Amino acid sequence: MVSQKIKTALAGSSVIRAMFTEGKEMAKKYGAENVYDFSLGNPATPAPEAVKESIKKILDEKDPMYIHGYMDNSGYEEVREKIAQNLNKRFGTHFHFHNIIMTVGAAGGLNIVFKAILDPGDEVMVFAPYFGEYRSYAANFDAKIVEVNPDTATFEPDLADFEAKITAKTKAVIINTPNNPTGVVYKDKTLKGIAEILKQKQVEYHTDIYLISDEPYRELVYDGNKENFLTKYYENTIVGYSFSKSLSLPGERIGYVVVPEEASDSDMLISGINVANRTLGFVNAPSLMQLVAAECIEEKTDVAYYDANRTLLYQSLEQLGFCCFKPEGAFYLWMKSPDEDESRFVEQAKKYHLILVPGSAFAWKGYVRIAYCVSKETIEHSIPAFRKLAEEYRLTGK
Ligand SMILES: Cc1ncc(COP(=O)(O)O)c(C=O)c1O
Repeated sequence: MVSQKIKTALAGSSVIRAMFTEGKEMAKKYGAENVYDFSLGNPATPAPEAVKESIKKILDEKDPMYIHGYMDNSGYEEVREKIAQNLNKRFGTHFHFHNIIMTVGAAGGLNIVFKAILDPGDEVMVFAPYFGEYRSYAANFDAKIVEVNPDTATFEPDLADFEAKITAKTKAVIINTPNNPTGVVYKDKTLKGIAEILKQKQVEYHTDIYLISDEPYRELVYDGNKENFLTKYYENTIVGYSFSKSLSLPGERIGYVVVPEEASDSDMLISGINVANRTLGFVNAPSLMQLVAAECIEEKTDVAYYDANRTLLYQSLEQLGFCCFKPEGAFYLWMKSPDEDESRFVEQAKKYHLILVPGSAFAWKGYVRIAYCVSKETIEHSIPAFRKLAEEYRLTGK
């Protein structure tokens, strides 16, 4: 008999994964070229050539006992120091290897941070719409998710709602910019506003509230938006990063967590996260990939590729009469559903072999997410299908 907890998890199992499976079945039935699967955030560009080269070089040149062996639960010191120096160079920070813990992707990073800070009943705030897996991660530690509404004109957090929902039990706030699912990049003013509110609430409740910045899309920004690093706004910021998107390595499960010296109980927190890596069974991040990430720290994904997809999709959908938020970052487009029931709209879209994800998967109904990390041809070939969908809803194109 499975546990009660996993029964609940099975019941709420990821809508996105289910759609991905459905997409695969549709592809078998109708041919992959006739199905337009915009469901999953799987990178569409191959890992930079330097990744392959560095794997070969590391395997050829380094001691196999070192590259495949156990190590400190936080990862190789040389890798952590390289990451610290790279961040310092780019963002004017002052980290050492001590502040960096290598993780099994962003997902592993969030779980070890949660393990280190959460007691049952603690509250974790999230800004809707948000990556639905945060619910699962909070449930792992019996924490309660508190959802903050967006300002629907901008899809940035509604700061008044945020302030009103913070309580003495608020332990963490997750922030994700560039955002999945909206593609919005939070403005400086919003980030300063969040920091101010948190500072006041910590004093009011005599508590520590950690801001956890989940940054797998940090480098994926367009239209002159700059890569940002959030520790400068608020001392109690912990950063979670992943190479899944920036180096197109989601299956390799490699990322890191940054805990600055200024964070409350910094040393104990770092030790706690290190121990959590062990006790949750990760033990350490994949050894070869740690070394590869360090070698390829200056590499970038093909941002121009996603940018071209973004422009093509956004302009095409707007011309057909759909109402879209122009993405500023990540590789998702957030579109208003022309049907008040967005799940019905998603079902209608499937008739034309279009696979979209309903906003309810991100705790915000009335919208859909379109992941444009696909080939340019997929977008081009999908436009007639979107046209038929627009006609069905009697949208008036431009
Ligand atoms: C916002 C966000 N956080 C975390 C993750 C998990 O990333 P990783 O593959 O590094 O675990 C994803 C993956 O899509 C994501 O979109």
